Amino acid sequence: MPKISTVKGAPQRLRHFASDNYSGICPEALAAMIEANAKHEVSYGDDTWTEKASNLIREIFETECEVFFVFNGTSANSLSLASMCQSYHSVLCHELAHVEVAECGAPEFFSNGAKVLLLKGAHGRIDPSEIERAVNKRTDIHYPKPRVLSLTQATELGTIYSIDELRALTDTARKMKLRVHMDGARFANAVVSLGVSPKEVTWKAGVDVLCFGGTKNGIAVGEAVVFFDRELAREFDFRCKQGGQLASKMRFLSAPWVGVLQDGAWLRHASHANQMAKRLGEGVRKLSGVSVVHDVQTNSVFAAIPESIVNKMYERGWKFYTHVGSEGEARLMCSWDTSPEDVDQFVNDLHESLLP
Ligand SMILES: Cc1ncc(COP(=O)(O)O)c(C=O)c1O
Repeated sequence: MPKISTVKGAPQRLRHFASDNYSGICPEALAAMIEANAKHEVSYGDDTWTEKASNLIREIFETECEVFFVFNGTSANSLSLASMCQSYHSVLCHELAHVEVAECGAPEFFSNGAKVLLLKGAHGRIDPSEIERAVNKRTDIHYPKPRVLSLTQATELGTIYSIDELRALTDTARKMKLRVHMDGARFANAVVSLGVSPKEVTWKAGVDVLCFGGTKNGIAVGEAVVFFDRELAREFDFRCKQGGQLASKMRFLSAPWVGVLQDGAWLRHASHANQMAKRLGEGVRKLSGVSVVHDVQTNSVFAAIPESIVNKMYERGWKFYTHVGSEGEARLMCSWDTSPEDVDQFVNDLHESLLP
């Protein structure tokens, strides 16, 4: 990921649009961490907070799933993918998937060599015909055997799969004897955008394992790996330990989940971030010289902004990425704490930067 450098003399901004992980910890997660700090607790995940957080996740998904808390999305994805395949298997994912472009080969590393095969599709969504193409491309002994389909919901381009689109993908996956993994780093944003219950977009839609993102939705550190197919969770605790993902003070990974899940803060924060992106998208759309390139369905806006204007915005102290989508596209991410004033200020600065 290219480093974002601060332009010398540029004004300091309180908040940015570079990533939803630029934000801090939301009040509900922080309060739970402080409460968890009050007394000693059993270590390595045998504590009351971890039990409570796991039970809340089971309640939310309305099923008896297996739950594990790990430090980040890369470990959640790569360890869960490793539990779904052997070293001679392959994992099919979109060519822009985080597991392919931003995990430093961790899925291949933790699975001892499983190969990641790339699928195409517009706006970050896998085209279902691509699955059959990839599986049928080679069926001989010399090629890694396709075993897992990995989907990202919301996608890396901020779009979402509808329930029907998901089903079409998972039905094809089942037909082709693939298991289904979901990278849900922004699962909350997708759930509120779709307006459905979490089970509808996961196990009821054919997902075997979900990496449920917390960090981008207001938790300090951590993601939950949720196994709907409980057989796949066999010995996952050992995999986490070996992979350096078993926190000894586990309660500080799990307590924040209690904080955000128990009264629905996870959905409120995601909904707020989505609304801010909507406002930002509408603001950007009104300006001539720039355009919004994907539907704004969750908490990101992808905008085509000329390089000279991007540089002017950097000079005004704004930070955002330009390497995630296609060339010439800026990714503008909103967080649980992005304010309408942040959005309006950004749009106003963009407007001024576009003036001749
Ligand atoms: C789609 C997606 N998956 C997973 C992650 C989690 O990555 P990390 O290992 O940085 O927590 C990210 C973070 O940018 C992401 O965008």
